[in-house]
Order: sequence, then C-alpha cells, then structure tokens
Amino acid sequence: MHRRDFLKAAAVAVAVLPAEAAGEPAQRRVFSMNRNWLFGGKAVAGAASPDFNDRHFQRVTIPHTNVVLPWHSFDDKDYQFVSIYRRHFRLPRELQGRRVFVDFAGAMTATTVTINGKRLGEYRGGYTPFSFELTPSVNWSGNNVLAVEVDSTERADIPPFGGNIDYLTFGGLYREVSLRIVPEIFIDNVFAKPVDVMSPDRKVDVQVGLNGAAGANAPLTLTVELRDGDRLLKLATQEIGAGGGADFQDVALTGIGNVDLWDLDHPRMYQVVVKLSGSKGTLDEYSVRIGFREATFTPEGFRLNGKHLKLRGLNRHQTFPYVGGAMPARVQRRDALILKKELKCNLVRTSHYPQSPHFLDACDDIGLLVFEEIPGWQHIGENPWQDIALRNVGEMIRRDWNHPSIILWGVRINESRDNHDFYTRTNELARRLDDSRQTGGVRYNYASEMLEDVFTMNDFGFPLQQPNQLRYLNTEFVGHTYSTKRTDNVERIAEHGLRHARVHNQLGSSDRYAGGIGWCAFDYNTHGNFGSGDRICYHGVSDIFRIPKPAAGFYRSQCDPGEEVVIEPGFNWASGDRSGAGGPGRVPIWSNCERLKVYLDGKLRSELRPDAKTFAHLVHPPFFVDLSGLPLNPWGDLKIEGYIGEKLAIAKTYSGRGVDAQLHLEPDDTELDGDGIDATRLILRVTDEYGGPRQFASGAVALSIEGPGEIVGENPFGLVGGVGAVWIKSKEAAGTVSVTARHAVLGSKSVTIRVRQVAAEGV
Ligand code: GAL
Repeated sequence: MHRRDFLKAAAVAVAVLPAEAAGEPAQRRVFSMNRNWLFGGKAVAGAASPDFNDRHFQRVTIPHTNVVLPWHSFDDKDYQFVSIYRRHFRLPRELQGRRVFVDFAGAMTATTVTINGKRLGEYRGGYTPFSFELTPSVNWSGNNVLAVEVDSTERADIPPFGGNIDYLTFGGLYREVSLRIVPEIFIDNVFAKPVDVMSPDRKVDVQVGLNGAAGANAPLTLTVELRDGDRLLKLATQEIGAGGGADFQDVALTGIGNVDLWDLDHPRMYQVVVKLSGSKGTLDEYSVRIGFREATFTPEGFRLNGKHLKLRGLNRHQTFPYVGGAMPARVQRRDALILKKELKCNLVRTSHYPQSPHFLDACDDIGLLVFEEIPGWQHIGENPWQDIALRNVGEMIRRDWNHPSIILWGVRINESRDNHDFYTRTNELARRLDDSRQTGGVRYNYASEMLEDVFTMNDFGFPLQQPNQLRYLNTEFVGHTYSTKRTDNVERIAEHGLRHARVHNQLGSSDRYAGGIGWCAFDYNTHGNFGSGDRICYHGVSDIFRIPKPAAGFYRSQCDPGEEVVIEPGFNWASGDRSGAGGPGRVPIWSNCERLKVYLDGKLRSELRPDAKTFAHLVHPPFFVDLSGLPLNPWGDLKIEGYIGEKLAIAKTYSGRGVDAQLHLEPDDTELDGDGIDATRLILRVTDEYGGPRQFASGAVALSIEGPGEIVGENPFGLVGGVGAVWIKSKEAAGTVSVTARHAVLGSKSVTIRVRQVAAEGV
C-alpha cells in the first residue's frame, strides 16, 4: 500500500458500516461516538444522574487522557483519580425497535456506565474492549445521557495491579467509543480461520457468534462470502432451524483454490463477509479481514508459510509522552510503520497487554508479526484477580483472532512465578478458542513449568543460556541492564547497540533459537521505583518520542540494501566524549554495505569490511573503525562512504565544527482530518550543517500555532539531546494549520498542515 493511503486508512478505521458500503440496506448501524463528550475531571456524587448540571464540563474528544502531563518527571498519582465523562445523544427514530449497545475499545482501568440514570455496571480492565446493552433504558424520542465514571487508580483487584509494575497505565477513556444499533438477533463476532493454508485443499473455517438466535421463531440463513474487495471468491450458506440457534455456528468455505499468501513482503488481506437473513431479508452483516498464512514455532525455529524466518523484534509499550495511551489511529499506526521501516523488525511484542486495534491493523497491512499477551507484570493476585486474567485471555483472543500478523498468544503474566492451576486454565482456554496459534508465556526462570507451546524467556544474561526447551524465543534482553540516554558518553552509546547486536548474533547461531525481541523499542514513563531519576526507563533503541538513538542503527542495518542502503554510526562524532582524548575510540558503524571508506577532514583514514568473524551470525555484521589517537589539529568532518560491489551506494558526513547549525521541524503527516481527534507527531530537531545529530543541543523551542489545530505537548519545549516532539491535533474544523518554532540562536521554522473537512457524527 502506498504510504499515504496506509496512513489515510487509519483515519477511517473506527466506524465501519459494511452493509451501506456494499450498497445494501444497513441492518446494523455503527456510529462512532468520539466527539461531543463532556469531561468533568474528578467525579463528584450525583455526576452520573441525567439532570446533573454539566454546563461547566469541558468539551472533549475520544481518545482522551484524564490529564495531560509533562513528558517526564511527574507523579503517577497525578492521573490516579476517578473521572466523569458525559455524552448526550439522540437516537435515529427510524431505527426504533432495535437493540442498542455502547462499545468501549478501552478505558483505564475500571469503568462504570450509567444510561439515563440507570447504572449498568462496572467493567474491570484497562486493555480489553467491553460493551453494555442500553436497550431497556434508552429514550427513542428525546435526549439520552450516557455517564461514564472511569477509575484510573491502581486497583489491586485488577490486573496488572496488586504489586509493582515497571510502566505507567495513565487514565481516562483512551480508546474509541461507538454506538451499535442491531436487530433482535445479530452477529456478535466472527472468527474466520484459514486452515491447511499450504495445501491445495485450503479452506476457511468460519465460526459465527450469534446473539439472540436461541429465541428465533423462524428459520435463519447464514451466508458467508470470501471476498477480494469487489470480487466474490467463494460463497457458502447454512440454514439455522427455528429455535435451534446456538451461540456459535460453524460454516466452512472449502474449495477456494489459489489465494495469495500473507507474508512480510506481500501482506495480502482478504475479507470474509457474513450475512444473517430471515424470511424478510438480511438481518445483519458483519465483515472481517483475514490473511492466509501458516505460522509455526518448531524445534528448528520459526516458519512462516513453510520458510524458516529468524525473528528479530522489539518490545513496544503503548504509551506516548503527554497523553499515555490516548493517541488516535494515525499515531498508533505510525508506531507499526516505525518498527517495520525504521527499525526493520519483523516481530513486535505487545508488552505487556493487548494494544490498540489500529496498531494491530497496521501490522496486518504492512507485514509485521505480533506476539500479543494478557495484562500483567510479575504479580499474580488471588482467585478473583486470576478470574479477570483468564477473562482477559478470552477477550484478547476474541478481539484479535482474525489478525494474520498475530502468531503467538501470551497466556502467562509477564515474568510471574509458576502457578500450575492458573496457567493450565489460561492455556486450555487459548487452545479451545483458537487451535490455529501456539501459546507462549513469558518467564524469567529457565526452570519454570512449561505448560505453553513455545518457551518464551526473558534472558538478560550474555551469553544466553543454551535453551533446554524446544521451541525457544528470547522475549527480552538488554533493557535495564544497559539503560542508555542520547546524551550519554560515547563508550556507552556504542556499547548499547553492540549489546543488542551480540544477542541477535547468538540467536542467529542456531536454529534452536527462533529469534529474539529486544527490550525495547521506545523509552517509556514509569514509576518512581524504576527507571532513571525522571521516571523514564531509557531502555529504548529509540527515545520516548520514537526518535532513533544510535543503537537503533543496529536494527536498521539488518535490512536488505534493496530495501534501503544504511549507514548509521553507532557513536557520536566528537573528540573528547570518552575517557581519554583523541576521538571516540574503536567504534561500530552499522551498515548493510559491503565495504566502507572513512574520511577525516577530507583524507581517507580507513577502508573497512564488516566484522564477519565476531558477528558471524548477523545478516549484516557491524564495521569497526578505529577513531582513537586522532590528530586534534586539524579536527574535521567525518565522512563515511558505503559501497556495494564497485558502486558508491551511500555517503554521509558529520560535521567536525561542534556547532549547532540548523533547526528542523518535521511533521509525520501534512494532512489531518478535522474531527478534533486526528493527530500527527511534529519532531523538533537541531542538526549540524549536514543534517547530522547534535547530541548536546539544548535550549527552548517556542511554538506558535494558527488555524484549526492545537499543540499536545510542552510549549516552549526544552530540547534534550537536540531533539524532542509534540503532537499536532486537529480541531473540529477544516483549514490550514501553521506551526512556527522559534529557537533563540537558530531562528525560526514553519510548517503547514492541511485539515480536511469531515462529516459530523451521526448520533
Ligand atoms: C523486564 C520486564 C520489563 C521491563 C524490563 C526492563 O524484567 O519484563 O517489563 O521492566 O525488565 O529491562
């Protein structure tokens, strides 16, 4: 998919009206309900009552964080409170008689929903979707008030809480809300499971979940279509006798012939459309996206569509600066793109919980494999807590079972101790719901009980232990053992990348290792008892703004030069940034070229070949250049040329002047939807005159904004390590947003972002 279309797809992914889109009468109507919310901050007694005076509430859109925070050095208690959201709405009269549900994609951490004064209950869990039926209490002819109290305290009764956790959860209605209006009998969920994908007899076993069918007093028919866009590839129908409607119906799509497989380079998606009809025509329609692929962990490593693939991944926390998890589709999708295109990963672990559906959709679209796991961190609570965790297994799988990108279900609380009964239950449930994927359960102890299919192990040691278990995947390494900031000295910066490279090298040494997932992709906010003094874990190969550190160069350099020719110095170019003087020392250059030439002040200093001896098992071993004992006068520019065959494929220059030369403003996108939800990152960067990093650039960047947009982030922004970012969020209007950044020394820069007109919400 073209890059722009990929991100555009993001903005429309929330509310789908499949029947309308196909030009047929819509039986099911799904209205996005992300605008026109009223937010009252801390909840007070009576705030859920329909006639509570909410005129002083703030008008907000969803995703929403209960408080916008600095990017570091804040107290988690700042977001730990119970907040109140209210939404007034009117229902389309022509739909009267149908059932009405409100669907929450995720709220942190316990949510009590009240409709027109009737309290419907509390949902406990911050990472999984939930719904409430509103039907008996809605008003079809007048105003309705939905009141939502969100408890964002760390409740010990709900996973992941009860012990310590090394990350923050933040608060609020941080994922989308929608209103679903369906007939009496409707389709609840569809699992379209490709089976025997590699054989000519491949088929799709479709399991249709129905709601209300048990009460049907007339025969019903299910029609299941396999589609490639407008093209119908296969059709199957099935009668359901009156009154015999079980909750689940199985329909098989057989004889489907040739299909394109889903793989990393060609992540081909198809659609399965299920229609439920009665004597008067179509009652409901439900469509899911699927991909045909076979993904298996074997004793000899991982195989995708029968081919061996060494897994090279990073862990991702879902939190962003300022707003925690409350970023819209476009920003969620961007993270997948960063992991695949900037960090060249083929796998991501959603540590330590189910993440945004937009992120997972993007993984499907671009071909990035996913290991998804249930919420939790080291602590296992008492039985009621375990029941919630078990419920989370089911919720995660039922939400995400159609994603071809997901290859493994994590059914153990990350790094928890053995608990035979509990993990017997989680494994049994995962296998019963989805026998097409293996289970994993992330552990820290080689001697722990193995109830899962894949031994998923956090081994932070080096060298790694030889796995005594078949089907082995290292799920975390480096992390806290080598926390590294962009502003650290050069020895540390170089060593940070090398530690990741050494582990991947060892993982490459034997097929018994399926591969590894480093800790981690991005720095993240954490509690005061973890991380650095500003409560950030600087464990990322990229920073909290998703801007690569030098260690990211290792990951980036592992791609085929046909995709991108890479040269990334694994160090900063300076003479005295290590113990001793005369240059950075013997340092790595991450590159996928065949040889490099390094010039100092215009003079050739070294011709280099990759160190294939020490790093024999990396696809692209690092180059090492000896930059010690350098002449200090003249001290000059560093130029690196990369050659493939005889051809000069890339050249990069880093200034020796030691001067901050340019201010850059880099928006990820130049168009947004004018829904008050859409947002894009705006990177602030100071560079040398060649565009190279200025690791110690600081100073305030003052931002001003005009037009239908707002700044999410600190303003003025105090640069650290020469970089930083804010997000530009659209307002509910169309026009042109113009952002100007001013730096006391480097002057000013402006960018514009077009904001498109979008339709109002239907309810
Ligand atoms: C692991 C843990 C991660 C993170 C990491 C830091 O033990 O699973 O969540 O805390 O350490 O390196």
